[in-house]
Amino acid sequence: MIETDILILGSGIGALSVAGELCKNHRKVTVITKGLKKACNSSLAQGGISVALSEGDSAQLHYEDTMAAGCELNDPEAVMRLVSTAPEVIREFIDTGMVFDTDEKGNLLFGREAAHHLNRIIHAGGDKTGLRVVEQLIRNLTTDVTVIQNEPALELRVKDGKCCGVITRAHDGKINVYKANYTILATGGIGQLYPATSNDETITGDGLAMAYRAGARLKNLEFIQFHPTMLTIDGKAYGLVSEACRGAGGVLVNRAGKKIMEGVHPLKDLAPRDVVAREVYAHCSKGEEIFLDITAVENFRKKFPTVTEICEQHGVNVDDGLIPVAPGCHFHMGGVEATSDGLTSVEGLFAVGEVACTGVHGANRLASNSLLEGIVFGKLLADYILTHPYKSVNFEDEPVTTQIKALPEKDEIKQKMMEFLGIVRHESKMSEIFKWFEQFMPDGRDFCKIDITKTTTEELERYNMLTAGYLIAKAAADRKESIGAHYIVK
Ligand code: SIN
Repeated sequence: MIETDILILGSGIGALSVAGELCKNHRKVTVITKGLKKACNSSLAQGGISVALSEGDSAQLHYEDTMAAGCELNDPEAVMRLVSTAPEVIREFIDTGMVFDTDEKGNLLFGREAAHHLNRIIHAGGDKTGLRVVEQLIRNLTTDVTVIQNEPALELRVKDGKCCGVITRAHDGKINVYKANYTILATGGIGQLYPATSNDETITGDGLAMAYRAGARLKNLEFIQFHPTMLTIDGKAYGLVSEACRGAGGVLVNRAGKKIMEGVHPLKDLAPRDVVAREVYAHCSKGEEIFLDITAVENFRKKFPTVTEICEQHGVNVDDGLIPVAPGCHFHMGGVEATSDGLTSVEGLFAVGEVACTGVHGANRLASNSLLEGIVFGKLLADYILTHPYKSVNFEDEPVTTQIKALPEKDEIKQKMMEFLGIVRHESKMSEIFKWFEQFMPDGRDFCKIDITKTTTEELERYNMLTAGYLIAKAAADRKESIGAHYIVK
């Protein structure tokens, strides 16, 4: 058994923010990641960080936009805590050496994305914000933080509602048992459950599935955000085309050049993401091609180097002014129920970032609020740990003998998720998807705990994808009315 005080699973912005704050206070932290440390959604994030720092902005206005985008299903207290703590946390982050884009006088530049009523989004390196933030947070870590890569977490160690660590598989195949006082899930969302996604390939819902098997309360799982604009060629998605492109003047058009958001919503191309994604999807479902017309965006290459690179890698010349797009799975608003300090319903288990559902996003996340949530709530979680000493009780892990059944391939799971639990859900088809899931339940009733020592990491990933998919289906079936990102046709 390996003993450690604070154990973090995952290596995105939430994880690094907690680790950075703790090591500043000389606490020992172990970060364990499934892949390489930069293989996370945060590194891929093109959009920036929304923060009320621009002239004329305020926490109250940021709050109002966040609540409106989330269809008021957000937790008002959590939202207010996020937006009002944000300016101070971002200023502190800048003091550690983080460089955001500025004008020639050194003033922060503020961009616009969907559903924000004013310019409030700061970027770094244009559309390279996520990567730059991850790199800075990594630079801020001290030798008190040990980062272990390529070691997937298999199961949380939980008994009687208390967590005392995790079981992992090291890169040489050895099973490692960790004992920790604080176990923090920062494993990201569920993007790889869908065929088209902006998410890293490691994001297969593992944290959600492990938390479920550990008995943690989950929340709002039906709310999955599809980003309206993934670069899409012949039906295959190749990466995100940031919403900031629309904020800078990009317009969605069909092959004939007709603007498709005219008359759909007063904010047109900058309507909330769920509205735009559904509109693009409706056109694509009729076999139409949709493009982002970027001819009005000045200095596109300079402002959007990542989008330019992705386009050029796939034979799309941004100078032609048209980028072929379609929606893809982007962000999970739901997750493991957690407070803004990261506490879950399981003692000793904490959650931060996309895996957590703190209620700040409601039914649809406001653009660029996710990196912000990772940074701000990561710091609050660290503050909580620093002020709440806790020793977990160690216990023997109970042997599990249940074996998995033959599982479907990942592509089949993704197709089913898109067909039944995608941008549009059909109430009449729900029973079909439940039957499909049920055939893979080891005991015929549930995606229960299984003998992890008898599964490969890849099998466990598929098992976790099925578990997360099934839980999303249950939540979607329970919510009878369309709201935000949950759109159900009767
Ligand atoms: C984007 O760049 O369009 C994504 C920003 C976000 O998800 O908040």
